[in-house]
Amino acid sequence: MKTLTRKEFIEQVGIGAAVLFVAACAGSCKKTAQGPSSVNFTIDVSTGNLATNGGFLVQNGVVVARTSSGSFIAVAATCTHQGGTLNYSSGSNQFVCPLHGAIFSSTGAAVSGPTSTAVQKYNTTLTGNSLRVYS
Ligand code: FES
Repeated sequence: MKTLTRKEFIEQVGIGAAVLFVAACAGSCKKTAQGPSSVNFTIDVSTGNLATNGGFLVQNGVVVARTSSGSFIAVAATCTHQGGTLNYSSGSNQFVCPLHGAIFSSTGAAVSGPTSTAVQKYNTTLTGNSLRVYS
């Protein structure tokens, strides 16, 4: 049996610990999207910002946007970096934080900037001019 030097021992234990950490983290360390957990409200889209393609508004902690093609999308309005209120950019179909430039996709995924944590996406259903936004 080979006797390990102190350096060899530390190297092998260190690698083992790193492997264990990665294995333990693989399923449980993924960051969960953040935002209000119980969302359910309706908006009249016949007037105001949502009456035209590319418009958006923030209500009940949710940013609701009308894309350039006229569909509706909604995500949590609070940036997962330091709490800035997100804007919607219809040109890129993304949500943008004005504080430090974080960008989130139309489904809330963190695309770039100082955070890798997504914002929660919400469902939308349009009935006539009434848009329901819900979790
Ligand atoms: S608070 Fe949104 S990028 Fe910093």
